[in-house]
Amino acid sequence: MSLNRGDVLRELGLWPVWRLRQPLRPEMASQPVHAQESSPPQRPLPMAGLGWAELKQAVAACQACSLAQTRTQTVFGVGDEHADWLFVGEAPGAEEDKRGEPFVGQAGQLLDNMLAAIQLRRGDNVYIANVLKCRPPQNRDPHGEEVAKCDPFLKRQIELIQPKLIVALGRFAAQSLLDTDAPISALRGRLHDYHGVPVIVTYHPAYLLRNMMDKAKAWEDLCFARATMRQLQSGRVSPS
Ligand code: URA
Repeated sequence: MSLNRGDVLRELGLWPVWRLRQPLRPEMASQPVHAQESSPPQRPLPMAGLGWAELKQAVAACQACSLAQTRTQTVFGVGDEHADWLFVGEAPGAEEDKRGEPFVGQAGQLLDNMLAAIQLRRGDNVYIANVLKCRPPQNRDPHGEEVAKCDPFLKRQIELIQPKLIVALGRFAAQSLLDTDAPISALRGRLHDYHGVPVIVTYHPAYLLRNMMDKAKAWEDLCFARATMRQLQSGRVSPS
């Protein structure tokens, strides 16, 4: 029997939380972000239509906020550009700013271990990106204005990757992607939606390094993500 995504989510008991918004998959990658919206017409985001090379150039050259003055370099993202899995963190830290790759410091080592725990590897059907592409000074929390300026980059990355599932790492990524101020405790354990792409929320690896007791909950989240991905990858699922 062929099930669509809605059937599968209902089967998993997740349907009520699945907020249908404008889908990114499967046809959206080549269209302007707002092309499918009805009235009122909106101007396409400036990133709409950019390919990988142009998008990377646009990020590297970005001067849209004051973080451009303090960064060593931008941190675009890394991995399989057609990955089923997309992990989204907050912003580069000191090590990432130095090396130009996300999650390469201590938190990154834990993220690699978390991936390995569900038989995943950085770069192998996995893409890793951050909400912000530049390091906030002293690793302070990102400002709203910075997120607003950087958001189109992540949105275009997601359009290009077309991941089957996004895992939001920590409160900041979750709240940014889901446009909510709900605490992480209220967001975990449920399937959310980012423009048609399922989203699962878990703790940020840097938080887990400081709060070992919550590692068990993160493990639950990873198992949930793995089970959800299996459903999404199975031939039984087609976009609803
Ligand atoms: N924390 C993040 O959120 N992203 C990184 O790339 C590194 C640490």
